[in-house]
Amino acid sequence: MDKALVRQRFRKAGAQYTQQAQVQQQMAKQLWQYAEQFVPAPQRVLEIGCGQGGFTQYLRGWSPLQKIVLNDLYLPREALQALFPDEVEVQYVEGDIETLALPSGIDAVVSAASMQWLVDVPRLLQRLHASLNAGGHVVLSTFGPKQYHEIRQLTGQGLQYYSAQAWQHLLSVEFDVLLVQQEQQCLWFDSPWDVLKHLQQTGVTGAGQWQWNKTRLRTFMAQYVQQYGRGEGDDAVSLTYHPIYLIARKKHG
Ligand SMILES: C[S@@+](CC[C@H](N)C(=O)[O-])C[C@H]1O[C@@H](n2cnc3c(N)ncnc32)[C@H](O)[C@@H]1O
Repeated sequence: MDKALVRQRFRKAGAQYTQQAQVQQQMAKQLWQYAEQFVPAPQRVLEIGCGQGGFTQYLRGWSPLQKIVLNDLYLPREALQALFPDEVEVQYVEGDIETLALPSGIDAVVSAASMQWLVDVPRLLQRLHASLNAGGHVVLSTFGPKQYHEIRQLTGQGLQYYSAQAWQHLLSVEFDVLLVQQEQQCLWFDSPWDVLKHLQQTGVTGAGQWQWNKTRLRTFMAQYVQQYGRGEGDDAVSLTYHPIYLIARKKHG
């Protein structure tokens, strides 16, 4: 994983991300509904991959929140600071969560639509376990193996996604798993070109060095319409999203 490239692509997507990432926005809302249901208000929270604050904005609902540690490869600090009242201490920890020192004494670790970018999830879960207070929670959303499956089929490119079952298995080593939910959504775009724009504007093209040339692009467009079009003589095509939601509590002992 070229994390400098991932950082650059998400940073460039910037404010456009918030407009374009409709699914991630819906996921943030859904994850918050689950979090409210399953997690008694924590005081000290770590958020991994907070991005433009799509999920962060809900965390002030956890009252009395005392401290929030915000992490991402790139942090738009001013926008994030504006999300919290003055009483909440906001700490910024910019960089790769897989190599940074983690804070201790945390009541909840949250992460929305970001875990799929990490290289060694089992290792991170071990480290999060050590950071959490007794009975602390992890609250996560990520994507499953059907995510962008059209793109994977057509280009052979894509991230490695764990299934919901694999996540359950990974978490259950050191956590009691309280919630595993998944869904699939199909978005429609006017053309394959619009899908590519959508991927760029939501920052996800940092996964690989896609070497497009004219021939490849033409083949991609034609095959996309042929395999994933509506078949009504227009160029509209589908793009699959596969959100997964997970909540777990640190095991005793
Ligand atoms: C799809 S965005 C999600 C942003 C936000 N949480 C939301 O729900 O809209 C994924 C975020 O993960 C961040 N990210 C990717 N790899 C990371 C890493 N190794 N350490 C910290 N953040 C990372 C990216 O920079 C990006 O902001």
